[in-house]
Amino acid sequence: MDASKLAAAKKALEFVKPGMNVGLGTGSTSEIFIELLGQKNRRQRLNLTCIATSNASAYKAKRLGLRLSDFSRISRLDIAFDGADQVDSDLNLLKGLGGALVREKIVDYRADRFVVMVGQNKLVRRLYGVVPVEVIPMAEDAVKQDLVRLGARGFETRMDGRRKFVSDNSNLILHAEFGQIANPRRLEDRLNGIAGVVDNGIFSKKKPIVVVGHPDGTARIIR
Ligand code: A5P
Repeated sequence: MDASKLAAAKKALEFVKPGMNVGLGTGSTSEIFIELLGQKNRRQRLNLTCIATSNASAYKAKRLGLRLSDFSRISRLDIAFDGADQVDSDLNLLKGLGGALVREKIVDYRADRFVVMVGQNKLVRRLYGVVPVEVIPMAEDAVKQDLVRLGARGFETRMDGRRKFVSDNSNLILHAEFGQIANPRRLEDRLNGIAGVVDNGIFSKKKPIVVVGHPDGTARIIR
């Protein structure tokens, strides 16, 4: 297990209080967090109610005895915990290399507090590189043309072996290369303005609390 991710997940656990409605992220760091949360919940009977950001996280949480719910029964989330692929110096995030960005944004943006757990290697000055974009399958080629007009230098459809990767929402994911992203908020909006795009992996509209884990097992918080 990656020591930095474990350190971040352990530190993030300190934000959990009894009776909370909790959003559960997706990815390897979130998996560690869900495992620790399940153990803490069993030991301390925390009476938590959780909404998961992917089928994989829901499955794991259920197996650990965490109570799962959805937005038909919960009107607000106290807190959400998730990983990220990059965190820039203004705490904008690049997410979605785990293929779960749509449900992550639905949950993370709606939580009163949003805690991001990363190893130090995820901290960057500016976001750069591949932005995952979830698209309705019939719009795949049309969206690719629009991505070029928006300045994408290249793109590929995410694969799962020899087949196209299909998200939990039955959509495709395009990986669009943008180089350095000067204005994350503008690119997040412009990408979402393309007809056929469901959402993209730039998270610029909800400032997170970032828990940074280090290989020596320590962690620090950036707000
Ligand atoms: C899932 O779609 C992603 O947004 C993940 O949260 C992100 O890729 C971080 O993943 P790791 O925790 O596995 O590094």
